[in-house]
Amino acid sequence: MRFTVAIDGPAAAGKGTISRAVAERFGFAHLDTGALYRAVGVKAQAGGLDPVAAAKGLCPEDLARDDLRTLEAGQAASIVAVIPDVRAALVDFQREFARREGGAVLDGRDIGTVICPGAEVKLFVTASPEVRAHRRWLEVGGEEAQVLAQVRERDDRDMNRADAPLRPAEDALVLDTSDLSIEEAVARACEAVSQKL
Ligand code: C5P
Repeated sequence: MRFTVAIDGPAAAGKGTISRAVAERFGFAHLDTGALYRAVGVKAQAGGLDPVAAAKGLCPEDLARDDLRTLEAGQAASIVAVIPDVRAALVDFQREFARREGGAVLDGRDIGTVICPGAEVKLFVTASPEVRAHRRWLEVGGEEAQVLAQVRERDDRDMNRADAPLRPAEDALVLDTSDLSIEEAVARACEAVSQKL
């Protein structure tokens, strides 16, 4: 059985939590595609490498680094993610993952629009910038205003880039999690998948 669930949306909207829960519930494999861009950004920055070379040479050890979840890694990811050749280097891996036997959930920014336009289920998970910054601040600490500024900066870069900008696919179900609990958001996502299975 091949079945793809595409979950897109801005930073800290709840995509990761929802994707993991959907994958577990239906026994699908899960790919956090943001981790690919984070690994490219961090690898390029740390090694003084060309980002395109870093993307072409991405290996499992790069994805296992323990510094991929920091705010800095998120910024580094969104900077390399505007480079078309970086994005192109990561396409085949994502598409192969999406069509693997047994079903797959991919979360990111362009899964429903570019990577898997034929996905059986497309969700666009969002929330207000303030709510997202607050959630991220609970994880990372520091100054909440600074976290909000970084969330806005990253949104701006992701939404306004020329190649694969962040936007909902025309046929995506938009899930605004601003006023939803994690359980409610997960239940709605699972319902959308159940309807198409
Ligand atoms: O989802 P996460 O916050 O880990 O993604 C980090 C950055 O990687 C995003 O801000 C975005 O710039 C980039 N990204 C992307 N396309 C994806 C996934 C992530 O451009 N499919």
